Amino acid sequence: MGARTLQAPRGTFDVLPEDGRRRLTLLRSGTDLLSGAGYEPVETPVFEETELFARGVGEATDIVEKEMFSFEDQGGRSVTLRPEGTASVCRAYIQHGMHKRPQPVKLFYSGPFFRYEAPQAGRHRQFAQIGAEALGSDDPSLDAELILLLAELLERAGTRGVRLRLSSLGTAATRREYSVELREHLRAHERELSEDVRARIDRNPLRASDSDHPGTRAAMESAPRLLDRLAPEDAEHLQAVRALLEDAGQRYELDPRLVRGLDYYTRTVFEFDSEALGAQSALGGGGRYDALVEQLGGPPTPGVGWAAGVERILLASDLDPSAPAPDLFVALDSSDAVRAAFAIVRAARAAGIAATMEHAGRSLKGQLKHADRLGARAVVIVGADDLQVRNMRTGEQRAVAEAGEAIELVAGLGDEA
Ligand code: HAM
Repeated sequence: MGARTLQAPRGTFDVLPEDGRRRLTLLRSGTDLLSGAGYEPVETPVFEETELFARGVGEATDIVEKEMFSFEDQGGRSVTLRPEGTASVCRAYIQHGMHKRPQPVKLFYSGPFFRYEAPQAGRHRQFAQIGAEALGSDDPSLDAELILLLAELLERAGTRGVRLRLSSLGTAATRREYSVELREHLRAHERELSEDVRARIDRNPLRASDSDHPGTRAAMESAPRLLDRLAPEDAEHLQAVRALLEDAGQRYELDPRLVRGLDYYTRTVFEFDSEALGAQSALGGGGRYDALVEQLGGPPTPGVGWAAGVERILLASDLDPSAPAPDLFVALDSSDAVRAAFAIVRAARAAGIAATMEHAGRSLKGQLKHADRLGARAVVIVGADDLQVRNMRTGEQRAVAEAGEAIELVAGLGDEA
């Protein structure tokens, strides 16, 4: 009996070259965009103390309640594969005294994140995010800058059907007062609510806001709106963000139902989604978290940021998956040609020419076919004691005296193209 074939774990996937190229293109484009706006790269561990997320993301969120990959390490510590990046970035900001740097500290990151969710199209247990965070300023121009950067990232990726929703959650104090009011309203409509929302009336009544459950939605229609309860300075902050977005020609919908699934938000929240996607339509989102750093034990430090899902952006976009063609394929026309061919490939690469050579023992005819399949512009054919350069566009073939001449000729072909 053969051995059982193994598969990638449920909710995970392998990235094969076609997809890998698109991911790399998106990542490069994001890196260029964010670097150009003064954001600097940051990396944090893939796992953290469990307490970081419990305190940072919030005990009563879906993420912390049921989606974390937590385990005890050999030293008996509870650690968790990061479900998101903001708590980790704030932890690093505190740990490394980054409040002593010129503020705001503008950072970006990308990499794998983990949530134990029911897998479906666009929802995985390991997924990749690109994220950006700006810490140390509560200026509305940062909120607007970050929103516009995410819009630009999606635009450059050719993402289809993009919509932006925007709202403000005010401060924790406003939300506490509002929660009392909302709790009362929800209790009065308790029988209409979904089980989930009912179970959380005490702990997290705001979760009722974005529920898709018909009864809950109906109950929320008549509920007081947090947007109408904002303190004057928070309402002004939102106004300032909106004015900057409008100046920039950025379209958005003001959506009082937008609450997001993480507890650290204050003031601005936003989400981009795509009409081209199904149920999992959120491409990326974020907002302000002016109390999070302090809550994690740091000095009072406002912050704002977003994260975007790499897989979902690629699902909704038309980035080209085609492989870049090599400039040069080096073919072998003699069994002794390997060393000379290998040297030509190295010299070509040193000259900035993308080059590959034959590694599979094909006939010369087979090699030319392969070079054509790769889309190579030129082939250098290395014989026992001669060298030929073949222009793959025209089929023209010419003998040359030595390797340097061959490389110059190939470089010249590149200039014509
Ligand atoms: P989030 O909305 O939880 O925010 O996640 C951001 C994006 O990650 C989502 O819009 C989605 O595209 C992608 N995503 C989330 N879960 C999954 C999944 N299971 N499978 C595939 N993609 C997924 C945050 O993570 C916050 N840290 C954003 C932030 C940064 N807020 C302030 N700064």
